[in-house]
Amino acid sequence: MPQQRRMHVLPVDAYVSQDWFDLEQERIFSRVWRYAGFAEDVSEPGQYVSVQAGLNNIFVVMGRDRRLRAFHNICRHRGTQLLRAVGKAQKAITCPYHDWTYDLEGRLISVPEEDSEFKGLDKSCLGLKPASIDLWRGMIFVHPEAEAGSIMDWFGEIEPHLGPHKVEELVEYPDSATAHKIKANWKIVVENYIDHYHLAHLHAGTLSMYDHARAEFGFVGPHFAFWEPLAPHYLENVEDKAPQPLILPMDQLGASVPMLFPGLGLGENESSWSTFHIVPLAPDLTRVEIRNRVKNAPAREFERQQSRSHRFWSKHITGKYGSGDGGSDADPMASGDFLAEDIYVCEQQQKSLKSPYFEIGASAERGESPVRQHQQIVLDYVEGRR
Ligand SMILES: [Fe+2]
Repeated sequence: MPQQRRMHVLPVDAYVSQDWFDLEQERIFSRVWRYAGFAEDVSEPGQYVSVQAGLNNIFVVMGRDRRLRAFHNICRHRGTQLLRAVGKAQKAITCPYHDWTYDLEGRLISVPEEDSEFKGLDKSCLGLKPASIDLWRGMIFVHPEAEAGSIMDWFGEIEPHLGPHKVEELVEYPDSATAHKIKANWKIVVENYIDHYHLAHLHAGTLSMYDHARAEFGFVGPHFAFWEPLAPHYLENVEDKAPQPLILPMDQLGASVPMLFPGLGLGENESSWSTFHIVPLAPDLTRVEIRNRVKNAPAREFERQQSRSHRFWSKHITGKYGSGDGGSDADPMASGDFLAEDIYVCEQQQKSLKSPYFEIGASAERGESPVRQHQQIVLDYVEGRR
């Protein structure tokens, strides 16, 4: 019998099989805090967002008392999903199937034909099932359990290792949110995000403004912390070179690029603050949603910054294959866009996983240690040690 093929710690099966995918949904994504959006997404009564947290679909709605509450998105009548992923604010929540209606605080308030069809029905026992919600760094998080405690139990230890950004003071860059479907397992996408070894190679032409040799990184619990300083050629007169107005004081410049378990990357740097939300869709398909926050400043300040930094960027960004100036939209490796480069290699790696000849050759002792550690954390969850 041939040996079971392995990525480092996990079997290759963990990246291609539906059984593994289902186990992860149950034992990881159903058991931890899950990112649901920015706080301003739910900022008036009746506004809501919904999110898939493993096996659970959960929505967050603001009540008439302006409090945020989270509920399982399941009608108490026959279980129909109540709300769609996105929708406009409403005064009440009505199930489309039989029009059972709940108020914004989750109480069942009306049942059609109640008197004739449901004699003696006790509506007070049929409120929506609550989930937990908490806010942290300007973001909404939900947990399937009603009494999940404080989010600081989950993020408290990693917090000192994140960027010094005052996230709540930044604003979303208009129309800059993007979503990408990547034909790779979610762990391939995470591993790429936390792999230090590739930065100076795949991204030699796209991320040279950071000093990868001086990066500091490691896991704090299940969460990954990463920080690196600006490269000297970028740091010199950085106020002229940053693509957007600076958001950090000069003595705190640098890029923090943590990966919060399971699959919320942050990109916290000198001029922007971004979320990189990794959503598993299938064993070989992952969606990534990116949103960006910047300094709260008038548009003309951004225009001025863009024009004075243009020369630096046009000189210092090049594609991996061929020139990046203008680039070729068709070839991600000539695009001069580090995200396109990352997506390309994730998909290329996933393609090889089904080959019987696939084998890991070696693993960088330091630069790829996060990849091995992340696999161990996933294994610990799936085998019930966490
Ligand atoms: Fe990368």
